[in-house]
This record gives sequence, C-alpha cells and structure tokens, in this order.
Amino acid sequence: MKKRIIVGLVMVGMLMVTGCGQSGADTNPALVISEDEIQPVVTTDTERTADTERENVNGIDDQTSDIDSSGDTGEPAGVGSSSDTLVVYFSRTGEQYGVGVIEKGNTAIVADMIVEQTGADIFEILPQEDYYPYTYDELTDVAKKELNENARPAYAGEIPDLSQYSTIFIGAPVWWGDWPMIMYTFFEENEDALAGKTLIPFSTHAGSGLSGFDRKLSGACPNSTVGTGLAIAGTDTQNDPDSVRKSVNDWLSGFGY
Ligand SMILES: Cc1cc2nc3c(=O)[nH]c(=O)nc-3n(C[C@H](O)[C@H](O)[C@H](O)COP(=O)(O)O)c2cc1C
Repeated sequence: MKKRIIVGLVMVGMLMVTGCGQSGADTNPALVISEDEIQPVVTTDTERTADTERENVNGIDDQTSDIDSSGDTGEPAGVGSSSDTLVVYFSRTGEQYGVGVIEKGNTAIVADMIVEQTGADIFEILPQEDYYPYTYDELTDVAKKELNENARPAYAGEIPDLSQYSTIFIGAPVWWGDWPMIMYTFFEENEDALAGKTLIPFSTHAGSGLSGFDRKLSGACPNSTVGTGLAIAGTDTQNDPDSVRKSVNDWLSGFGY
C-alpha cells in the first residue's frame, strides 16, 4: 500500500517561523500539504550487527539496541566530559519512511552514535502506554491526532537525576514538522530540572531538516541554553551509517567531544 505521507515539506518550513515554545498543534492548519514524493517503501531489511554498549539509564531493556556499531563506548574523543552528558531520545521501530520495516529506529541510531563518541549516559523516552502503530500510515494518523489535540502522552520510567548533567542531547524524529508530542511532555515536566543546562537538539527526518526543533526547545525550556542542532536524513541512518557517523562526530567536535 503506497498511501503518500501527507507531509508538505514547504509548508512544514513555514511552521518554523511561527511562535516559540508551543507545540505545533496550534499551527497544524498550516500543515496542508502537497502530494509530494514521499512514500513509504516496505522492502528493505535493516542490516544488524553487534550490540552497542552503553549505559541505558532507563533501567528498561532496550529492545532496539542491536545495530551497526563500529565505535567504542570508551572515553570521549575530545575535551567534552562524558560524565556530565546525557542523551535523551525518542524513536520508533516498525515501518518508517523510505526504509521499510526497521528493527532499530533512525533516531536511536544517531543517539547511539552520540554515545559512542561522547561516552554519555542515555535515556530513551518510551510511551507509558504504547499505542503507536507499527504501520507507517496508521502512525502518521495517530501522530496527527496528537498534534491536533496538543496531547501530552505520558512516558514510562523515571528520568534520571538531571542535576548530574550539564549537557543534554535531545533527539526525536520530526513528526508533522514538530517534535513528537511526547517530547513536550518531557520538556514541560522537567523544565525546572533542565534550567541552566545546555540542551542540544537533533532530529531525523524525511526532508524537513531540524524543523525548528531548536527554537521550539528554547521556547519550552526558556531557562536552558540551546546549542546548535543536527538534522540527519532518516534513510541515511539505515543505508549510510558511516557518513552519518562522520556528520555526528564532526558536529560533536564543535562542542569539544
Ligand atoms: C508520524 C510521522 C510524521 C512524520 N512527519 C515528518 C515531517 O513532517 N517531516 C519529515 O521530514 N519527516 C517526517 N516523518 C519521517 C520521520 O521523521 C523519519 O522517518 C524519521 O527518521 C523516523 O525516525 P525514527 O525511526 O527514529 O522514529 C514523519 C514520520 C512519521 C512516522
């Protein structure tokens, strides 16, 4: 089934000039959309190799941890300090745009690369009640409903003590030109704990880039410093991980890692 994703990348770009700090729900009418060329392709099996070693502070078994991993999870390469760095991310497995059915989410792959390079701790935002479909079209429908309702889906588990971290990388897939609503739950519930810290956003996407993740994060956490974000094409994480790793490492080097 090749229902086209209703994602108007040009219109998504327009969302980036709307107000700070709000989810995109109030701007969703702008997400009208063209019949662009984006289609799910359900053919590719994801290549899987070794597990990535990392400290997952969820305390929950990470079912998505087996990926291509050629790096060590040892000391950070640069002057950045691993001990005060955390990676927080949300990502989905199942059918995704352009990569078929994946067993490790695109954003999860980038999150692990950040851990490989920095030695950071990692926390996966998992839904408390996982009602997200594993088929792409259905997932886009559920996500659109959440956006329209400005929902704040609950996440599972306890966020680690954020006081021990000064730098927090925060990543998610672009959903309808915005952070997935569950990320706003995280931002809002932890706004005070995130104050005074450096938050560095990253996205994976199908053409929309960073989609204003930095500006929206800044609006949601006005007392935090937001660093320069990184946008990675989701298809590249599965199909060209070496070039993604290079982009990630180049970006991290700018922060001293
Ligand atoms: C519900 C939904 C909405 C999406 N909306 C957009 C979008 O607005 N712009 C875009 O470039 N990609 C969009 N995508 C594509 C994803 O951002 C992309 O496939 C991403 O890499 C998926 O990451 P994940 O595997 O970590 O979940 C959307 C995907 C889904 C499932």
